[in-house]
Amino acid sequence: MARDISRVGVVGLGTMGAGIAEVLARSGLSVVAVEIDDEGVARGRGHIEHSTERALDKGKLDDRERADLLGLITYTTSLADLADVELVVEAIPESLEQKAELFAQLDKITGPDTVLASNTSSLSITEIGVHTSRPGKVVGMHFFNPAPVLKLIEVVRTVMTEPDVVTDVVAFAERLGKEPVVIGDRAGFIANALLFGYLNHAVRMYEQRYATREDLDAAMRFGCGYPMGPLALLDLIGLDTAYEILDTMYHQSRNRLHAPAPLLKQMITAGLLGRKTGRGFYAYD
Ligand code: CAA
Repeated sequence: MARDISRVGVVGLGTMGAGIAEVLARSGLSVVAVEIDDEGVARGRGHIEHSTERALDKGKLDDRERADLLGLITYTTSLADLADVELVVEAIPESLEQKAELFAQLDKITGPDTVLASNTSSLSITEIGVHTSRPGKVVGMHFFNPAPVLKLIEVVRTVMTEPDVVTDVVAFAERLGKEPVVIGDRAGFIANALLFGYLNHAVRMYEQRYATREDLDAAMRFGCGYPMGPLALLDLIGLDTAYEILDTMYHQSRNRLHAPAPLLKQMITAGLLGRKTGRGFYAYD
């Protein structure tokens, strides 16, 4: 019988984690949202409040619906508060060491049937899962930025993931109003494996002063109908995240297409990470 998932934990409330918590609460689920300290909680809460306020202004939510949604999210700095959830979605920074440690802790805290999902876009779900005693219940649940808007969820299965866990997570994603796809544990999964060669190529064209950033972006928006040009999209994703994804794919395939453009590394060193730091290829208020 399919798992009944009504209480979900989200660990890490950065751009993705906060967006994921909002998506879950929008579907009427109780969410336990965990951050490392009070500052992280305040930042994550602010993100969700701001996003739902925008939805209110646009008439997509009324006051009552917004209050109900916000009331479904409990914030905490203690992982122990995840003892009763049926699913955990992890969205902490892309460090295998940190994720391995977190999954080992989640394994001890949560019930034996709780599904542990990672939103990682650049690490191996298999390598994360082996740090638990339940690798059969470890999957990838990869959301896209902005999570409240984009419908795709890549459900990543490893050689150890139990088939019924995949079925249940796919059904759960559909319940959230999302479009799940299932993929094995390869670097870049489906979408990033196809997208990032293109994004990297755009950085190289910019680096070689082949065209201005505005013209590079305009070409793809107005010539190909993409909602954003590649450099604006890199600013949205975060250059550090983009670098990690490219680097992982490059190491796995040795395909030159994915060798990160040197300019990416230079911009990261300079702190120009995109929207989240106020400056990347473009400047933001
Ligand atoms: N949270 C909630 N809602 C948001 C939002 C956010 N952060 N950003 C935009 N929206 C909503 C807006 O409220 C608006 O809703 P309505 O149409 O109902 O009014 C809608 O999205 C469109 O937004 P805007 O009118 O402000 O602007 P837009 O039409 O340019 O859309 C966009 C903005 C949704 C970001 C769009 O440009 C887009 O889809 N861009 C491509 C994003 C993309 O490719 N993301 C994937 C990145 S790869 C990834 O995430 C994977 C990884 O592992 C790194």
